[in-house]
Amino acid sequence: MVVRVFFLLCILCFTIVRNLDNGLARKPPMGWMSWGYYMCGVNCKNDKQKCLDEKLILSVADRFYEDGYQEAGYEYIIIDDCWSQKERDRLGRLVPDKERFPHGMKYIADYIHKRGLKFGMYTNIADVTCMGYPGSREHFRTDAKMFAEWEVDYLKVDGCFVTEDYLNTAYIKLGMHLNATGRPMVYSCSWPYYIEFIHNKKPDYRSVAKNCNMWRNYHDVVTSWHAIKSIITHYQVIYEELYEYHGPGQWNDPDMLIFGTGSLTDSQRRVHMAVYAMLASPLLLSCDMNKITPYEKELLLNLDLLAIAQDPLGIMGRPYALQPLLTLWVKPHLPRKGDKYHSVSFALVNLDEREHSVSFAPGQYGLNSTDYTAMDVFTKVFTRNVTLKDTLLVKIPPEDVIMYTLFPL
Ligand SMILES: *[C@@H]1O[C@H](CO)[C@@H](O)[C@H](O)[C@H]1NC(C)=O
Ligand SMILES: *[C@@H]1O[C@H](CO)[C@@H](O)[C@H](O)[C@H]1NC(C)=O
Ligand SMILES: *[C@@H]1O[C@H](CO)[C@@H](O)[C@H](O)[C@H]1NC(C)=O
Repeated sequence: MVVRVFFLLCILCFTIVRNLDNGLARKPPMGWMSWGYYMCGVNCKNDKQKCLDEKLILSVADRFYEDGYQEAGYEYIIIDDCWSQKERDRLGRLVPDKERFPHGMKYIADYIHKRGLKFGMYTNIADVTCMGYPGSREHFRTDAKMFAEWEVDYLKVDGCFVTEDYLNTAYIKLGMHLNATGRPMVYSCSWPYYIEFIHNKKPDYRSVAKNCNMWRNYHDVVTSWHAIKSIITHYQVIYEELYEYHGPGQWNDPDMLIFGTGSLTDSQRRVHMAVYAMLASPLLLSCDMNKITPYEKELLLNLDLLAIAQDPLGIMGRPYALQPLLTLWVKPHLPRKGDKYHSVSFALVNLDEREHSVSFAPGQYGLNSTDYTAMDVFTKVFTRNVTLKDTLLVKIPPEDVIMYTLFPL
């Protein structure tokens, strides 16, 4: 009997799955990460434009602090691969590159923290990083302790060069070492990407979501419209597989925004930002902050767009393919204070090179109230009121998006 009760209790303890409970990333993280633009920027003498060093990281903190990004929610400043010396020290610890990070990482953390921002770093789960710097394999405890001592708030952990079995156990183990430091760190895992695209297997998203705050599941973004289209199409296709693992504390990560790199037209920029907001994706810039155009800045600081991206429910918007290359994304939000019903955003995304016209009835997409007022998210104009019976006829220009938030009346 005792044995049986014990057995029953233990079935319960295995079926009630708790997700990673470090209290972090309750909303999709926003910030800046070095990789997309600076990559392995170690060649500072010959390529000053792409130098990954202390000066760069501190300058991003200054831009965030002075130019309104911080107030809008951009928070994490993350150093990706290529920050360390090629060898560990005598005690087996990672050492920041002596020329590019002369004051070490705690100095950078202090500077960032004084600005009220947060600090992120990078490692790989294998012996070496993707670019050949020392990796964390066999050093989980030492490295977790080191990152905690440097007061790191966010750790991106890459998954180059290891087997599928190792990926499936090592990410869990490293997460336990991070937890054991007592310092809460957002745990960003590249785990499912490597399972799916390097080992050609299905990721175990239950396990990923239980152990990581966010995770990559598609190729690295590059600075082109083609890359953005391919990311959008991918998430549309695998939406059903992902959405239930997406929410506060656990986010699918389609990789960085490519603003500030001169690679998109303004309408493509709208599409990029709109879909990331509808997906409730992390919003991580990767660029020279001085190269962000005024229009990109307007999009990045559009509080109505950010309210969609950062909605506390964290629901991944659902895609409906209305025509080839024309998709309607629908995302419900937490009711505003005093509202009985959810507000809902609709984004009509046209990936085609020609204009599309479409008629659709918002009432067919699960609206709960009978009357709404519709705000255009880009112009902030309340364009019209909508009832459950209404059909809207909308023209969407080439490679552009029309986006409304419907607030219950
Ligand atoms: C460690 O895990 C426990 C149990 O899930 C959690 O309550 C705690 O907040 C975690 N601590 C850190 C530093 O992540
Ligand atoms: C309608 O209400 C239900 C229950 O509160 C909620 O789960 C759902 O998201 C709402 N739908 C919309 C589109 O707001
Ligand atoms: C929508 O309805 C409200 C309340 O009836 C009204 O005040 C408002 O002017 C209407 N808006 C538009 C754009 O028609």
